[in-house]
Amino acid sequence: MADAGCAPGVVPGLALRPLSAADLPAVLVLQRAAYGDDYQESARVLARKLELESEACWLAQLGGVAVGYVFAHRWSGEGAPPLHAPLAALPDCADHGFVHDLAVSPAARGLGVAAALLARVRAWSAAAGHRGLRLVALADAVPFWTRHGFSALAADLPAGYGHGACLMGRALRDPQA
Ligand SMILES: CC(C)(COP(=O)(O)OP(=O)(O)OC[C@H]1O[C@@H](n2cnc3c(N)ncnc32)[C@H](O)[C@@H]1OP(=O)(O)O)[C@@H](O)C(=O)NCCC(=O)NCCS
Repeated sequence: MADAGCAPGVVPGLALRPLSAADLPAVLVLQRAAYGDDYQESARVLARKLELESEACWLAQLGGVAVGYVFAHRWSGEGAPPLHAPLAALPDCADHGFVHDLAVSPAARGLGVAAALLARVRAWSAAAGHRGLRLVALADAVPFWTRHGFSALAADLPAGYGHGACLMGRALRDPQA
């Protein structure tokens, strides 16, 4: 399915489509390229997120080649979900969307791929009636998220997020803004 929601011409040749379990091998390759060997999730953990919230997980392709992905899901409460463990369930009453992971291959950076993926998640989260979006930013990515309207929130994060990781959030008002 081609991306009909992105402004045409912003990223020539970019297509966004819902992620499927068949995409997980490509996602793991992208994840390793984006983060290196220190941060690699299991296909089982990612498959569970897809199973629970497939409408919030997207693959970005340029010329038919996978170049980025995003996993998100509904969430509630002040903290962040555990890492490296399959989610048991999602809350019935969620007040925000949680961006679990967004990454773009090094060769495709700076083109607006991440912005397009994030716009898709914002639209999903706003349509679901959430008040805002949250995520855990790795230290290097804090400036990127700040540019997208996120600010730091106080929280004790589960082990595994790493030194310098930071819970961030932003309100959702107009998903097109
Ligand atoms: C962060 C990331 C997703 C951005 O992807 P991208 O497709 O290059 O982003 P976009 O093209 O939409 O936006 C690029 C803009 O953001 C800026 N940007 C990208 N990464 C940034 C960072 N870490 N800090 C500050 N600015 C950043 C670029 O300078 C560029 O600015 P410009 O538009 O003024 O030229 C990508 O660098 C990545 O995959 N990083 C490794 C994984 C990661 O850290 N993910 C976030 C997990 S918390």
